Amino acid sequence: MWDEASYGEEVMRVDEKDWRELVREAADRLTAAGVDSARVDAEWLACEVAGVDRARLAFAPPPGPDAVRRFRDMVAARAARRPLQHVIGTAPFWRRDLAVGQGVFIPRPETELLVEWALPRLAGTRRPVVVDLCAGSGALASAVMTERSDARVFAVEAEPAALHWLRRNLAVGAEVVEGDATSPETLRELDGRVDLVLTNPPYVPEGTPVSPEVAADPATAVFGGPDGLDVIRPLVHRVAALLRPGGNVAIEHDDTHGEAVPALLVAAGLDDVVAHRDLSGRPRFATARRAGDPGGPAGPTA
Ligand SMILES: C[S@@+](CC[C@H](N)C(=O)[O-])C[C@H]1O[C@@H](n2cnc3c(N)ncnc32)[C@H](O)[C@@H]1O
Repeated sequence: MWDEASYGEEVMRVDEKDWRELVREAADRLTAAGVDSARVDAEWLACEVAGVDRARLAFAPPPGPDAVRRFRDMVAARAARRPLQHVIGTAPFWRRDLAVGQGVFIPRPETELLVEWALPRLAGTRRPVVVDLCAGSGALASAVMTERSDARVFAVEAEPAALHWLRRNLAVGAEVVEGDATSPETLRELDGRVDLVLTNPPYVPEGTPVSPEVAADPATAVFGGPDGLDVIRPLVHRVAALLRPGGNVAIEHDDTHGEAVPALLVAAGLDDVVAHRDLSGRPRFATARRAGDPGGPAGPTA
């Protein structure tokens, strides 16, 4: 069991310790605090302070007192169940580290599956128009921009606190739009012209128990009403209106929505609806295409 008092004393003798010992102690402390990924989190925090990647941590010079103090403060914050990404100040997504903190949803690795699915769909399109609805930190928009510097990317977000982080992460190259992603007025000028919509909206059914780390995400980013579909239901119609004929959408959803979300996409008039699972086999996202010839007449379907 971690002993808070002895941790302070131990830190007084840090000059005798290397990162390996400090990480081991921190991992014990995080385990005692109920952190599942205690060892990995301790290593990430040590890497952040040492300024090295995980492969090099074993060879990093022993930390001085300032570094140990900083490490100890970060471990204490993580032990209080602040998300690791908030403690570090960034979250990795695709090939970038995005700035995150209070008021914005921390991007999750499984959302990268939408990017993997989408990029090949843009392969034959020059200067594609891409819309990230419910953009949060801008994870999806940023990933597309990383891979397709020719894309025109729009990122829609409703919450002022999230917009602060979104503007910071998409300072160059994307258009940040403050508004309700479900409203027909939002990006109306793009109706029938969008090549790709990516969206990871709030979708957790209200009342679902969540870990302290998920509870640190804004409730408006996580919960989607009693059945989790309050945002998705109107959103699919907005998506159908935005897409050009032949345009594609990928929408992330709760693992209880493996049938409901594909059915909503069909009801919105979209074709080629496919349900996808994540790497642990859980229903995770659905994709669809707007029927029609890309060169044909454009116009909303809903
Ligand atoms: C689950 S988070 C996803 C953020 C980001 N796309 C990602 O994958 O990390 C959902 C985001 O949608 C925003 N949001 C919720 N309802 C919205 C609405 N009606 N219009 C625009 N944004 C909305 C929330 O503020 C939050 O930032």
